[in-house]
Amino acid sequence: MKNRLVNIGIIGLGTVGSGVARVLLEQGELLKARTTLTFRLKTISELDWIKERNLDLTGVICTSKVEDVLEDPEINIVVETIGGYEPAFSFISRALRNRKHVVTANKALIATRGKELFRIAQENGVDLMFEASVGGGIPIIKSLREGLIANRIESMFGILNGTCNYILTKMHQEGLEFAEALKGAQEKGFAEANPTLDISGGDTAHKLTILASLASNSLVPFDKIYVEGITAISRQDIDFAKSFGFTIKLLAIYRAVKGGLDLRVHPTLVSNSHLLSAVSNELNAIFVQGDFVGSTMFYGPGAGERPTASAIVGDIVDLSRDLMLQEGEKYCNRSISLVEHSDLVPIGEVANRFYLRFLTVDRPGVLSLISGVLAEHGISIASMVQLETQEKDSCIPIVLLTHEASEKAMADALEKIMRFDFVKDDHIRLRIF
Ligand code: HSE
Repeated sequence: MKNRLVNIGIIGLGTVGSGVARVLLEQGELLKARTTLTFRLKTISELDWIKERNLDLTGVICTSKVEDVLEDPEINIVVETIGGYEPAFSFISRALRNRKHVVTANKALIATRGKELFRIAQENGVDLMFEASVGGGIPIIKSLREGLIANRIESMFGILNGTCNYILTKMHQEGLEFAEALKGAQEKGFAEANPTLDISGGDTAHKLTILASLASNSLVPFDKIYVEGITAISRQDIDFAKSFGFTIKLLAIYRAVKGGLDLRVHPTLVSNSHLLSAVSNELNAIFVQGDFVGSTMFYGPGAGERPTASAIVGDIVDLSRDLMLQEGEKYCNRSISLVEHSDLVPIGEVANRFYLRFLTVDRPGVLSLISGVLAEHGISIASMVQLETQEKDSCIPIVLLTHEASEKAMADALEKIMRFDFVKDDHIRLRIF
């Protein structure tokens, strides 16, 4: 590598791409002092050059032709920050085939088409890095691959979507309604272009797929993960949970259990005595338990220009260190294992404590019939609340917290309970952590 110079090309100058450009332009001296390498932002390819970005790009080649990045033999590292499936997939694979390292924050692509991309990277002797795809600025991928490498990962519980966490926090702390809180997240720029991906749990599942693949040294199939989003959570559930000493969070769950891997994304009542309950607003956190290290927690900003750029440039520096080595002397293997994981525990076999809320007519025998069905399925009630009403035959919410029960038993019991004519459609079943 001549002059210890690393040439970088960026594809896409949106929020994240601009952040990467800013770090490379503003922190060049710092990076050089720490690495003895010169990082040169050589070329940016972008279709919209009208937009104001408050960046001084003097000396940088600004183009609308992606070939100027992908086909330039001088460029060593390509940063893909356009997001989405296509043309991101084509651009990344073309860069890898041209033997350029690639850095991306594209969690959807890594989670669903990672296998193809890592294979192309391996075939061409280059790396595809993706630290910014999970947890924004939190170096969780590097921690799993390096700092915690000596551990078998027993479990991980993650708050991985800033938009959902922001919505749930605003509902919990300020009593906002769901739609109002979502609007706030969109205005602040955390939400995906299509926020359905956030609130449906899909974005969290993409991120869990990536963490689970690293933690299990296998390729976890994204489409086999059980996913529930937060759209059914109402203010009253937040308030009931609060009264029982819980905060509702959208959790990504990884547990290495006897039958294989238990992987799930769903809203969860987290005890207020657990650190994760205090992770507020758009912040992310991952609670990781390893067999030697014990419990650790990684916490920080999970989205936004500067944190995401911080993670991407961390990857650029890592790759650049490899560029200084001779062929075949790579520091470590940075791909995800390409062997698919076959032992995902079906959701029905998982056991949890549950939170149940029913809306029922207030008349004699309602509670005993509901608790009778739960008992028939071996489900034991731990506590309950019924809101009082003065009006005869009016509807009231009943909330039950259960002891641990299997998902299958709960699904069967719920099906029976919902057949009672006094139980209205408006009900919810959440898990307790
Ligand atoms: N929409 C994502 C979030 C952005 O809200 O966390 C970061 O991946």
